[in-house]
Amino acid sequence: MIDLSVLTEKASLVAKEAGAYLRQQQLTFDRSVVELKSMNALVSDVDRSTEELIVKRLTEIFPEAGFLTEEETTTQATDSQYTWVIDPLDGTTNFVHGLPIFSVSIALLKEEWPVMGIVYEVGMDECFTAYEGGGAYLNGKRINVTSSERLEDTLLATGFPYYNFSKLQGFQNTLAHMYQHTRGVRRIGTAAVDLAYTACGRFDGYFEYGLSPWDVAAGVVLVREAGGIVTNFADKNVPVAAESIIAANKSIHPLVYTIIEQNIG
Ligand code: IPD
Ligand code: CA
Ligand code: CA
Repeated sequence: MIDLSVLTEKASLVAKEAGAYLRQQQLTFDRSVVELKSMNALVSDVDRSTEELIVKRLTEIFPEAGFLTEEETTTQATDSQYTWVIDPLDGTTNFVHGLPIFSVSIALLKEEWPVMGIVYEVGMDECFTAYEGGGAYLNGKRINVTSSERLEDTLLATGFPYYNFSKLQGFQNTLAHMYQHTRGVRRIGTAAVDLAYTACGRFDGYFEYGLSPWDVAAGVVLVREAGGIVTNFADKNVPVAAESIIAANKSIHPLVYTIIEQNIG
């Protein structure tokens, strides 16, 4: 029987160690060494070395679990029902361009379902943690989603499509509606932090499509444990809503869903 509370504590130390390494690396980072994985998908040796560090540490604290990692630095096979899902650096474009907002994202799945999430936002030294049934926390203090009820009172977050333009027209129409009916829409460049900020009430809601499991798995646990709702664009309560995601408080979620449904379908 694993103790999620103890594991969350240990894994958050790993996230902070990785974050400290990233903070140091950004000081001397040379943008010319960046590679392109695919269209607009930047990657550097820092992404890979950070991931190796995280995998090593998590293997030490929970050797039985498998891994699903963005940079694929490990192929450790396991028959465990537990899988770590890791994005060592969420917000690589920010990191590369010297912007101070990027994060380490670590989630634990049991079978398909995310049961623990840690998002460490490096620039502000903020560690968001949650495990199933235990509530959500920011640097040890309990956090909750907002209680806003009207779209007009919300600040929303999103990510702009940068390689998958399959829903572009509908997405732009959705944005046009949101510009006119909310306090504003932010694109801060790290999905993990978009979700963490939704969990702690800085954002009232967040929507995006074309993501991968490691972008959202940790943040999904944060939002659910902070009292919010997470679904995909079809309003389905899927375990990790990566292909498309709407995360918001209970009142705002259906309002965002309705606009997306009308414009994107
Ligand atoms: C990206 C960020 C960004 C989102 C992209 C992701 P990366 O992750 O989360 O906010 O809009 O879709 O790929 O590449 O910086 O790890
Ligand atoms: Ca990412
Ligand atoms: Ca990444």
